[in-house]
Amino acid sequence: MEIASILANVCLFLCSFLSYHFLKKKKKKNRIPKQRAKLPPGSMGWPCVGETLQLYTQDPNVFFAAKRKRYGEVFKSHILGCPCVMLASPEGARFVLVTHAHLFKPTYPKSKEKMIGPSALFFHQGDYHNLLRRLLQSSLSPGKIRKLIPSMESVAISALESWSSGHIINTYHEMKKFSFDVGILSIFGHLDSNHRQTLSDNYHIVDKGYNSFPTKLPGTAYYKALLARERLNQILSEIICERKEKRLQEEDFLGHLLNFKNEKGEIITEDQIADNIIGVLFAAQDTTASVLTWILKYLHDDQKLLEAVKAEHMEIYEANERGKKPLTWAQTRSMPLTYKVILESLRVASIISFTFREAVVDVEYNGYLIPKGWKVLPMFRNIHHNPEFFPYPHIFDPSRFEVAPKPHTFMPFGNGVHACPGNNVAKLEILVLIHHIVTKFRWEVVGSQNGIQYDPFPVPQQGLPARFWR
Ligand code: HEM
Repeated sequence: MEIASILANVCLFLCSFLSYHFLKKKKKKNRIPKQRAKLPPGSMGWPCVGETLQLYTQDPNVFFAAKRKRYGEVFKSHILGCPCVMLASPEGARFVLVTHAHLFKPTYPKSKEKMIGPSALFFHQGDYHNLLRRLLQSSLSPGKIRKLIPSMESVAISALESWSSGHIINTYHEMKKFSFDVGILSIFGHLDSNHRQTLSDNYHIVDKGYNSFPTKLPGTAYYKALLARERLNQILSEIICERKEKRLQEEDFLGHLLNFKNEKGEIITEDQIADNIIGVLFAAQDTTASVLTWILKYLHDDQKLLEAVKAEHMEIYEANERGKKPLTWAQTRSMPLTYKVILESLRVASIISFTFREAVVDVEYNGYLIPKGWKVLPMFRNIHHNPEFFPYPHIFDPSRFEVAPKPHTFMPFGNGVHACPGNNVAKLEILVLIHHIVTKFRWEVVGSQNGIQYDPFPVPQQGLPARFWR
């Protein structure tokens, strides 16, 4: 990342979080009671700013790895206006996300909550969260997603056709279009092209404004995003209206949301439906796109591995009369090498390096105090890169997944009540896209092949510029 843009980002973050910090300051008095347990080791950095500058002016992975080395598996810091405790062990992550999940709540800046929609499931806990999660999980069960394979294949093929005219593409941007289209499939099943386009145009504006400075000044990216978010509500309302008029009882996520009624006759409101649809699109798009981009890089960097993956897929391609017959569910379950490549890419890239929770009471963990209101960060990447669990962790080696990882050491999709309900869709769409890429196309990476940029997930520098051809 260029230094100017790093500093601009730091300023943006500091402004928004310092104002948040200032408003919360009064509440913080008397927060730490007379304690038996002590705070974890670590440094809280400078007053107010904490260690935010250090984090944002160096590679975050280096920042956290150095801390872990110095302080051990539990350490404190102060980032983006918030005191935090980092937990870099499988036990720590499990404590927060699974066994003591009731002591911690999800936490996001208000501006982000507003942009996605406050009723989106990942901001919630308890009954409402359980209900929404159940509806999403049943719409994404293996029985349902297997029916999406032919449509996923069409989306993959048309994406690849558009890349293959010899021009240089930004792989990450193109993968984002692909994962958005698959997200639309998972939510709506079939959606007419008009609605798909208007959803895509407005979602794109929301996406651009999401990480910008939250101000309601007209003309700013955030303000434009808020307006686009309102338009998304109108579009979704039209789609819902058409479904109701046609009395369609679809089994997709929208269908599950619309058909829900509990024993008291309560339904899910249109605003709740909209927030959850935008929430799922948001959770599905950048994550899958950045993993796909990394996979293409790792395969490009290891031509021997690429040839072996290709051989696995050519066998299926030939069995399907050179692609004339569609992929079957059974075939997608029988791509063992590609599956291991996906797992190893999820581990090495660890695109969700950590997640955030907030302690709802004072919590004691391993003799350390986590005060109420502090953020808690289970550090997935540090666990995935710990040589104790994954020897020579920086080496890309899919064969390590021939043996299952030690329990709770591999959490690319999180763990516990908020673990990713879309993980099977993500893996399926990756398998489908890889199948079509390696059986019909070749690609080369253009320009510098090393370096990471944060967008906000880690992606190869400049989104991995590449050229595809048949
Ligand atoms: C490779 C791609 C993906 C990765 C690495 C990924 C990773 C994750 C992780 C780590 C979490 C847990 C976050 C936390 O505990 O704070 C999560 C939650 C979530 N993911 Fe994914 N995800 C991916 C793709 C998808 C897809 C394709 C969908 C939907 C179709 C999806 C929908 C969600 C939702 C709705 C949540 C929130 C669940 C809840 O709060 O109960 N994700 N994801």
